[in-house]
Amino acid sequence: MLIKHPSDIRSSEITDQKLYANRREFIMAAGAAAGAALLSGANRVLHAAGQPAPHGRKLDGVIKSPFSAAVGDEKVNTWEQITTYNNFYEFGTEKESPSMYAKALKTEPWRVRVDGECAKPGDYHIDDILKGQTLEERVYRLRCVEAWSMVVPWIGFPLSNFVKRVEPTAKAKFIEFNTLADPSQMVGVRSPVLRWPYTEALRLDEAMHPLAILAVGLYGEEMPKQDGAPIRLIVPWKYGFKSAKSIVRIRFTERQPLNSWQESQPSEYGFYSNVNPAVDHPRWTQATERRIGEFFRRKTLMFNGYADQVASLYSGMDLKRNY
Ligand code: MTE
Repeated sequence: MLIKHPSDIRSSEITDQKLYANRREFIMAAGAAAGAALLSGANRVLHAAGQPAPHGRKLDGVIKSPFSAAVGDEKVNTWEQITTYNNFYEFGTEKESPSMYAKALKTEPWRVRVDGECAKPGDYHIDDILKGQTLEERVYRLRCVEAWSMVVPWIGFPLSNFVKRVEPTAKAKFIEFNTLADPSQMVGVRSPVLRWPYTEALRLDEAMHPLAILAVGLYGEEMPKQDGAPIRLIVPWKYGFKSAKSIVRIRFTERQPLNSWQESQPSEYGFYSNVNPAVDHPRWTQATERRIGEFFRRKTLMFNGYADQVASLYSGMDLKRNY
C-alpha cells in the first residue's frame, strides 16, 4: 500500500505466478479426480477432497447466509490463495510474510476492550462475544486498494449484533477498531511502516449495516492467524484495508477517528475508502482489478458489487471528495 510503488506492483505479479505454480503442483498431487473438480470450477470440492481439513479447528453450527455474493463465473479462491497472499503489516509487508510469521501470534486467551461512548464498556472474552451468535458463511468479494481481489467464504456474524449489545450512547457517531500491536509476537510492529496499533473506523450507520460482519473463520474453520485470528472486521463494499484484523479494542466516539492509512498518506487513503472504479488511487487505476488466480483483469464494480445494498448510506455525498 503506502510503500508500494508502480515498480513493486510487478513484483506482486511474480508472487502470483508463484501462487499459480504452487497451485499446479498441488493439482498434480491431488490426483485426477480432484483436478477435474478444479477445472469445473468446484474449488470447494477440491478443498474438501485434496487438502487435509481441518487445517485448524472446525467451527460448528455454521449456516449459509443469503448475503453471499459470489455469482456466475466468480470462483471462490482456494484456501492456499487466501492464506498465503495476505496483507497484515504487523507481520511484514510482503504478501507471503504473514503466512510465515503469524504463527507466533498467541490467540488464546483473547479479550476485546470495549470503551468510549457506550453503556456497557468492558473487557469482553472472545467466548462471550460469540455467545448466542449464529455463525454464517458469507462468501464475499475482498477488493484490495492495490487492485487485486479474491472471493472468500468468511464465517462470522453481523457486527450490528455486538454493537447493539454494548449499547452505544446517543453521542456515539463512529466506531474505531484497534489491532493487537505486540512486538514480541509481531515482527512487523518493530518497524515504523505505520503508526501502531493499526486503527480503522466506520461511521456508526455503516457499522450497523447487515453486510458488515465480525469474522472468526473461513472455509468452515477458525480464522487462520495470517487472516486476522481470532476476530476481524469484514466490510465487503470497502477496500480491504478497512477490515482490521486481530481486533483487541472497539471504541465508540463522537468525532471521526483518524485511521492508520489515512494518517500515513492522507492524499491516498481517505476515511470512507468505498470501492469506487471512478476514483483512481493517485498512483494507479481503480477501474479494474486482478482476481488472484486469474490471468485477465476484470472491471471493478461500484461498492465492490454491493451498490444495491449500500449506496443509500452515501446519498447526497460527493464520493470523489469523500474517497
Ligand atoms: N489489519 C491489520 N491489523 N493489519 C494490516 O496490515 N491489512 C488490510 C486488512 N486488515 C491489514 C489489516 C488490508 S490492506 C487488506 S487488503 C486486508 O486486511 C487483507 O486481508 P487478507 O490478508 O485476509 O486477504
